[in-house]
Amino acid sequence: VSGPATADAANRSTGNGHDTVTIELGARSYDVLVGTGLLAEAGGHLLPVLRQPRIVVVTDETVAEFHLAALLTALAAAGIQAESVVLPPGERTKSFAQLERLIDRLLELGVERTTTIAALGGGVVGDIAGFAASTILRGIDFVQLPTTLLAQVDSSVGGKTGINTARGKNLVGSFYQPRLVLADAGVLETLPRRQLLAGYAEVVKYGLIDDPGFFSWLEKNGTAVLAQAESGGDSKAAWRHAVTTCCRAKAAIVAQDEREAGRRALLNLGHTFAHALEAETGYGDELLHGEAVAIGICIAFDLSARLGLCPNADVARVRAHFHAVGLPTGLASLGRSFDTASLIAHMRRDKKVRDGKLSLVLSQGIGKALLSANTPEGAVSDALDRAVAESAEPEPNS
Ligand SMILES: NC(=O)c1ccc[n+]([C@@H]2O[C@H](COP(=O)([O-])OP(=O)(O)OC[C@H]3O[C@@H](n4cnc5c(N)ncnc54)[C@H](O)[C@@H]3O)[C@@H](O)[C@H]2O)c1
Ligand SMILES: [Zn+2]
Repeated sequence: VSGPATADAANRSTGNGHDTVTIELGARSYDVLVGTGLLAEAGGHLLPVLRQPRIVVVTDETVAEFHLAALLTALAAAGIQAESVVLPPGERTKSFAQLERLIDRLLELGVERTTTIAALGGGVVGDIAGFAASTILRGIDFVQLPTTLLAQVDSSVGGKTGINTARGKNLVGSFYQPRLVLADAGVLETLPRRQLLAGYAEVVKYGLIDDPGFFSWLEKNGTAVLAQAESGGDSKAAWRHAVTTCCRAKAAIVAQDEREAGRRALLNLGHTFAHALEAETGYGDELLHGEAVAIGICIAFDLSARLGLCPNADVARVRAHFHAVGLPTGLASLGRSFDTASLIAHMRRDKKVRDGKLSLVLSQGIGKALLSANTPEGAVSDALDRAVAESAEPEPNS
């Protein structure tokens, strides 16, 4: 129970202000704060949602090196008792073995039902920490402090948690909403450029789903969104607009369809293809999730155009924008061969297969994504063939 001393600390937060996006889910509603300096002010922002002034921070080794000390200092300054569990970095961490290790460590630390877990990291840390929080002691509170662009615009918001199994990605998990999300621009300064770009593919996704104005804005301001330290204040304004817009979009979709019975599936634009590519490349450095999403979106648009749903000009615009910021648009840049049949086999195993039929997100143009429950498999494999064939010759001008 937090006393008056800690409540004072909550009012001491200064900084450059932030935007607030509320995820409206009745009793499970929560805020996403988007701004600069939020990690340093974390204690003040977190105190009101804590049931006990105690947090266990779950992070990975890389993020710990850059940002754990700052967070622990901020929590201590607010009178919050804080411990940490540090996991190895990378997608492989989303495993039963690491989950067991994490839960064991949390129990060893003596977490109580009123203790809060804070996920400090990218989507990997958020997904496994959230899943651990949803099951340990039958569920304890958790908060998200996303440190990748991907996590800030996508994985930290909406309450999907989980791990991978040998049979596929995210096949074990839960819907479990955080109590608060703090998206701080500052933490992105240490993020490798390639990871930042990968997250940007998810940013573009929101424009493509149902916000053509946002896509147009990104065509003009994408570079500013992606600018890191050297470029100064303006970049933060662009970053903030982009992250806030994405979180609002995700908030709207999640509020309508928390458990993905319908509309939420639109967020999977490009993802069924992406997951197949990731499965084929081993979920590692060869192809990052966001890079796979950029390619997957291009395949989905190409397929949509071939099915007569989407104007060719829109396919070209999407490809041009990914290309302009430095994201891959096809399999060319990967320097390896792919086999359509095995990609299709991966897609069949994906969660988006319903009654044996491929359920895909297609597009009627920029800002007009739609769910297609029964895409002809022939058209899908033709689209994959085109993407695979493209890998024989490098993209023009990169
Ligand atoms: N739950 C959801 O709704 C949802 C949505 C999208 C993606 N995901 C999941 O998210 C995962 C991908 O997330 P990700 O792209 O954030 O990957 P990640 O968590 O692996 O982070 C990428 C890399 O960047 C490092 N890193 C993170 N923050 C850093 C920082 N500020 N400075 C320096 N290095 C930093 C990490 O250590 C890691 O090596 C996938 O497992 C995917 O399935 C989940
Ligand atoms: Zn994604």
